[in-house]
Amino acid sequence: MKITVIGSGYVGLVSGICFAKIGHEVVCVDNDQSKIDKLNQGIIPIYEPGLKELLEEAKSAQKISFTTDLEAAMQGSQAVFIAVGTPQDEDGSANMSYVFAVAKEIAQKAQDYKLIITKSTVPVGTGGKIAKIVKDINPNLEFSIASNPEFLREGVAIDDFMNPDRVVVGVEDEKSKEILSQIYSNLFVNEEPRVVYSDITTAELIKYASNSFLATKISFINEMADLCEAVGGDVKQLSYAMGLDTRIGEKFLNPGPGFGGSCFPKDIMAVLNIAKENDVNLSLINSVITSNKHRKVHMVEKIKDALGSEIAGKKIAVLGLAFKANTDDIRYSPATVIVSQLSQKGAKVAATDLQAIENSKQELAEFDNITYHEDTYSAIEGSDLIVIVTEWKIYKDLDLEKVKTITKARKILDLRNILDAKKVKEAGFEYYSIGQK
Ligand code: UGA
Repeated sequence: MKITVIGSGYVGLVSGICFAKIGHEVVCVDNDQSKIDKLNQGIIPIYEPGLKELLEEAKSAQKISFTTDLEAAMQGSQAVFIAVGTPQDEDGSANMSYVFAVAKEIAQKAQDYKLIITKSTVPVGTGGKIAKIVKDINPNLEFSIASNPEFLREGVAIDDFMNPDRVVVGVEDEKSKEILSQIYSNLFVNEEPRVVYSDITTAELIKYASNSFLATKISFINEMADLCEAVGGDVKQLSYAMGLDTRIGEKFLNPGPGFGGSCFPKDIMAVLNIAKENDVNLSLINSVITSNKHRKVHMVEKIKDALGSEIAGKKIAVLGLAFKANTDDIRYSPATVIVSQLSQKGAKVAATDLQAIENSKQELAEFDNITYHEDTYSAIEGSDLIVIVTEWKIYKDLDLEKVKTITKARKILDLRNILDAKKVKEAGFEYYSIGQK
């Protein structure tokens, strides 16, 4: 089927390339000419493992093309996905201007039936608003609206797209359902399609509810980690045993420095806004925001405790700046918050990451005493404390004997619990972690 995907950001690109992989003919549209030029040359503006190879494959199979021309892209394509950004406004609500501008352009340029599908995370009621925009501009156009929220995680997005737990589709008529079921039938060859159909409002809500629930789960385990530290329990054993209960489930029960990224913090604020507008009190979600905010402050306190003295004047090696491993994304990254607070408290921070150094340099430009190191061991050299903030695999495989030759202090604070405590201690280090006395 011919599919148009508008917006070549994270969601649009991954979805477009994966739709091509499952056999559709995809045209990706973006109004940024330089981005389109790069994509036509096979250059991907984001870091996502495996995506470049998949793009090359789709290009040689002539299944994907990139353009700024929406009118041409939509010709012969019934399904038009909107995957542009919905950044957070100052009041926490989702900024819908890009989505509505695209809806307007579709209405102006469409010449025959279109199924307009939102893939971006949009507030409840957006489907209806898009329908009104299209109807007002082009009353004669035959069209339907659908919602098809995306559940991709950065770093493992291709696998998430290709092997989804479920695909959520919100529709209002049979024709839309038929088109979307055809699109996704290619994903579920020889197996029962895991597609959940609902009305549009419910589909829009499912996305926010899922992200809010996962964020709550993380904050819950982070607070249990604090309790373990206070009473002498072990959060690793606790989360393992809790996760074995299938009603709870083992995933997203890893304690850490708090959740970040472009989705959970933004979506949780957006859901609160939707609730406020509708006079609904979401006190639980409110407290998750507070808990996650305190988390980063608490991590800085843990750094002070591990140092055993004031932070000012100490050299602290920070391993990891991205909000999680396998991405260059630093949006709402706990690491950048921690680094900024350490800098304000007078520490000398030696920061390193595998992909996120350039982004962090810009984000943290106003803070003093931060040096950036491509090489992990160069960041560690001469440090009073090593803090692991992002769970990159190379930090798990840290060469402790080498570390011993370049630091005297030999203290490690592992905010992701990725190291083997016994081995670290046997190697002669003081080891501090999360949720373990
Ligand atoms: C999240 C959701 O997991 C996706 O399903 C969703 O599609 C996406 O948001 C979105 O709305 O677009 P993502 O932000 O890429 O995906 O990252 P996650 O892997 O979910 O991690 C989010 C944060 O939670 C990270 O800071 C991570 O370190 C933290 N986390 C995650 C924990 O602290 N503990 C865990 O057990 C899991």
